[in-house]
Order: sequence, then C-alpha cells, then structure tokens
Amino acid sequence: MTDHPLDPLSADEFTAGRELLAEHGLLGPHTRFAYFGLEEEPKDAVLAHRPGTPPARSLRALLIDVVSGELSDVVVSLTDRAITSHRPLDPAVDGQVPILEQDFVRAEEIVHADEGWRAAMAKRGLTDVSKLRACPLTAGSYGFEDEQNRRMVRVLAFVQADEHDLAWAHPVDGVAAYVDLIEGRVFRLVDELDLPVPAQSGNYDDPQVSGPPRTGLRPIEITQPEGPSFTLDGNALEWQNWSLRIGFDAREGLTLHQIGYDDGGRRRPIIYRASIPEMVVPYGDPGPTRYWQNYFDSGEYLVGRLANSLQLGCDCLGEIRYLDATVSDDHGRPRTISNAICIHEEDAGVLWKHTDIFSGSAQTRRQRRLVISFFSTVGNYDYGFYWYLYLDGTIEVEIKLTGILFTSAYRGADWPYATEVAPGLGAPGHQHLFSARLDMMLDGLGNSVEEIDVHGVPVGPDNPYGNALTRTITRLGTESQAGRLAAPERGRVWRVVNPSVTNALGQPVGFTLFPQPNPTLLADPSAPLYGRAGFATKHLWVTRYDPAHRYPAGDLVNQHPGGAGLPQFAAGDHDITDTDVVLWHTFGPTHFPRPEDWPVMPVDRCGFTLKPSGFFDRNPALDVPAPASGHCHAGP
Ligand code: CO
Repeated sequence: MTDHPLDPLSADEFTAGRELLAEHGLLGPHTRFAYFGLEEEPKDAVLAHRPGTPPARSLRALLIDVVSGELSDVVVSLTDRAITSHRPLDPAVDGQVPILEQDFVRAEEIVHADEGWRAAMAKRGLTDVSKLRACPLTAGSYGFEDEQNRRMVRVLAFVQADEHDLAWAHPVDGVAAYVDLIEGRVFRLVDELDLPVPAQSGNYDDPQVSGPPRTGLRPIEITQPEGPSFTLDGNALEWQNWSLRIGFDAREGLTLHQIGYDDGGRRRPIIYRASIPEMVVPYGDPGPTRYWQNYFDSGEYLVGRLANSLQLGCDCLGEIRYLDATVSDDHGRPRTISNAICIHEEDAGVLWKHTDIFSGSAQTRRQRRLVISFFSTVGNYDYGFYWYLYLDGTIEVEIKLTGILFTSAYRGADWPYATEVAPGLGAPGHQHLFSARLDMMLDGLGNSVEEIDVHGVPVGPDNPYGNALTRTITRLGTESQAGRLAAPERGRVWRVVNPSVTNALGQPVGFTLFPQPNPTLLADPSAPLYGRAGFATKHLWVTRYDPAHRYPAGDLVNQHPGGAGLPQFAAGDHDITDTDVVLWHTFGPTHFPRPEDWPVMPVDRCGFTLKPSGFFDRNPALDVPAPASGHCHAGP
C-alpha cells in the first residue's frame, strides 16, 4: 500500500497501469514500453499531502509499435482509473523514444543476417559470425537524407573468441552498420578502414591475464554491533537530524526527495528533489566510423533500468540496508531489481579537532556519512552514483566510473584522438558529462542564487601593501544570466539563499555549491551534438521551477534534432530571484584513457559538494560526542 505520493511504483502499480492501458485499447500486439514510470504529482500537491491520506498515483508510458514505428506518450491515473493524456509523438520534432531491451538482441541479429556486413567481416578474415558481438549505439541526429524518419542505431562490432572472452579487447574497426530497427535491416554500411583487430586478451578475470592473486591483504571487517544509526520506514530515511525519501526511476535511477534537517526541533527543508537526470558521453574520434559516438546514458538507455543487484561484502561493506527497485520490461511488466539501492553509514575520518596551546584542551570528533547509492552498467561502462550526507550538514555527490573503455583499433601517434592502451588497441578520448538537478527549497520555496568569486585587490589607499583579498557576490537575476561557467582561478561557487529567512547573525540562510571545475562540452559549437547536449555547455543553470522541466537534454533525447532542454528552458528568461528555483550542475571528467585503465578501469571519481553557508548559526556538529572511551588511545 502506497502512503506517500513520491513512493516508487510497486509491481502491483505497474501491473494496474498496464491493465488500464490495455483496457483503453492502447496496447497492440507489437506495442513495447520504452519507458514506464511514476508521473510525479505536482509539487504543491506533494507538499500539501498529509500522512494517512491516499496519494494520487499516475504512470507515464512511452509506447512504441515496433512494426509500424508509431510512438505515443501516455499518462494513466491509477486513482481515477483513466487515461489522463495520450499524445502521439512525431519523431522528427519530438525525438525518438529510448532504446528497448530487445534492441540489444535485434541489432546483432540484423547485422548477422546482412550480406554486406558479413562480406565486410569476411574481408577482414572474420567468417564465423557467431563470434561477432554487435552493440546498438544510439545514432544522434545529423540531418542525413537517408536517416529521416527512421528509428535507428549504429552498430560497431567486436570479436568474442569464446563465451568467456572480453569482446571489448577486439574491436573490428572501420565498419559501422546503420540499422533501421523498424524495417529490421541495415540501410547503410560504412566500410572505410581496414585495421587489424587487436589480438591481446583483455580477460581480466583469467589468472593467465591477471597473474596469481597478490598476498598480504588481511581482512578488514566493518562492524556496527548495535546496528546502524539510521532508520528506514518504507522509503522514508532518517539519520542524525537528516530526513529524506528515497525514490527510484528507470530513467534517472536514484531520486532523493524532501531532504531536510531537524535543527533543534525545527524541520528545515533543504532540497525538494535531487537526482542526476542525464549524462552524455561524447567521444572525440572524428573518423568516419566513429564521429557520431555520443551516448546519453539516461535519456537514451535508461540508466536506472540498467541498475545492478548489489552484493553484500563486494559492492557494499558493513551494516547495509538495501531497497529493491521496480522497473518495467519492454512489455510493461514489472521487473524487480533486488538490492538495487544500498544504504549504509561510513566513518569519514576526522570531523573536527583542536589541541589548544593555551587551554590545553585536546578534542577530536569523528565524521560520519550516510551513503545512499546504486550502480548501473551501461554497455561497456559501469557507473556508481553515491549521495553522501554528513554530520556537519554537508551534502556530497560522487560518481564512480569503472568498467571497460570503449575501444578502437589504434591508428598511430599521428591520430591524436585516441590513446594506445594495449598493443594495437586504441581508446578514443571522451567526456563524461553528468547533469545534477537540484530542486532547492531552503527554508521554503523563495530562494535566490548568488555567484561568488574571490580575487585580490589592486594596491590603493585602502590596500597600501597589496595583501587585500575579497569576494564579489553577484545575484543571478534571470534564467539567461544564470548559464554560468566555473572559474577555478577565482574559486567560483554558487550560493543558494533564502532572502526571507535569516540566521542568528542576520544573514540570509544559504547552501553553497562547490563545483569540481572540468571542461564543459568540447565539441565545436557547429557540431550537431552541441545542440543536443546544450546542457553540457555550462557548469551551472538556474531555472524557475516548472514541472515540465525535468530533463536537461529535453524530454525525448534519442535521435532528437537538438535545441531542447536547458538552453530552451533558460530562453524563457524568467526572473529567478526569491522564487522557486532549480539548480542544474554539469560535472565530470574529460578522459584520455591510460594503459592503467585497461583491461578494466580502476574507479575514477567526480562530483560536487553542497555545504551549508550560514544555514546554521555555528558549527552544527559541536554536539557530536567524543569517541567512546577505549577507542581513543595512544599507540598500539
Ligand atoms: Co571514460
């Protein structure tokens, strides 16, 4: 029984939603669900919800008839047992619905059956088609005449010598098949280069490759003999003054709702909704087989639907509580991913410490964090999404990037767009650009955003010795002014404030976003990708809350011609002062692979931090008790 409007959909709710769609004649024999998920109630309805009242529940379905290619966007209300909206989609304008699970199998079947593709493989000595793996890679939108009005993917192939072989080690370069998924055929074959297929095994789980296991690693056991310090009631999580609700969506993965902090009995809202609703991975190899490689892992592949079932002792260590996630399969039937969300507490080193030279007081407190995470496998890469809440009011996001590089044949040092990671094996340079959506509500909905730069001051009457340093604080006034780049040389941060609520010092309460400044989208402004990934051209956007503004690259991303999403939202140019604002933050690495990233990549990290800045009156963690006696002592 669902008792909160933001609870994730249950299996029964998926089934009921599917039945209603069928009763209304919307499901034909060839209908597939490219997305099926919770249609969240409007914010005012959620905020007005009182426990004990049954919440209104709706589902959104993106449907495709895989024979006719017809698309529709349907919202069905479980509460009213009715279709709320039913809109046919025009792919030329709206974009295509996401990749289906069945497309992974179909793409391979289609190229295997294609004479031209088989001939291109045979030309390279690859005659055993059963050993050739094919990836359905999203096509982007380049305006080519023969790509109009097609639901398509581009397919690159890899050799898998046997069923245990790591196929990514053996890319077949120079051949790309463009596949129409509705017609079920290859409509264009690119066969440009003949490069040798890299031969060295990448089987990192084979002792022949990894070598014998190293020794000397003694056990580390994490124990919490009295259990963890958080409580989980359904999807409501409470820990050390923090409270929030956990959600999960096939497209966005983990969603956090109504993050608040109990400050001496006052429950103070901080973020209404937080998620990482998009990421794009643009590759930088301009060659004829690869210039189109850029994947929107959320909007095109549904990063949440691809979540892993986590394993205690491997993925998560210590006193873990798991939540299952329910998504739908291509047929709209519920599929439960067990142990998809991991919740636990971690020691996080020193929280604060001082040894006073005058009073002799020597005090140390330990920091802890509450960790809420999930892992998703999108083709070759694996991404861990970690949200951390700390005892001092800090919120942090960390993405862990691991898995396998996307590989090519290495073309040599005169092709500066890839690095050689194993003999003859290239890995094109690329970016991982994530977008965080932070729907803020610091002590209420009326929030503003300031840009804060630090800088020195020229010598002058006030600054005769030139040591002055100060800050410039600029209120971001409208959406068009709020598309911002980080400036690490100025220590640029963005502070969200509630101008109507002050702390004990009379300052507006605030939280500051500290970015990890990395390059934004490096594609040329004339590139088709630039228009499709417009969100990634700025580190920060601030928009006025609009329930339709959910996805930074727009609603339907797959094959979308571009122009949707954040640049379009910001073009509305609404006033964003003292109103309900949403922060959007782009972050992530630009990655030129190293040999050490092969054959499986040690975790790389990226993320950002939100710190209270005048939200509290002083260090909110003075009341953290000293470590229990017996735990602190000098020496062994
Ligand atoms: Co990478």
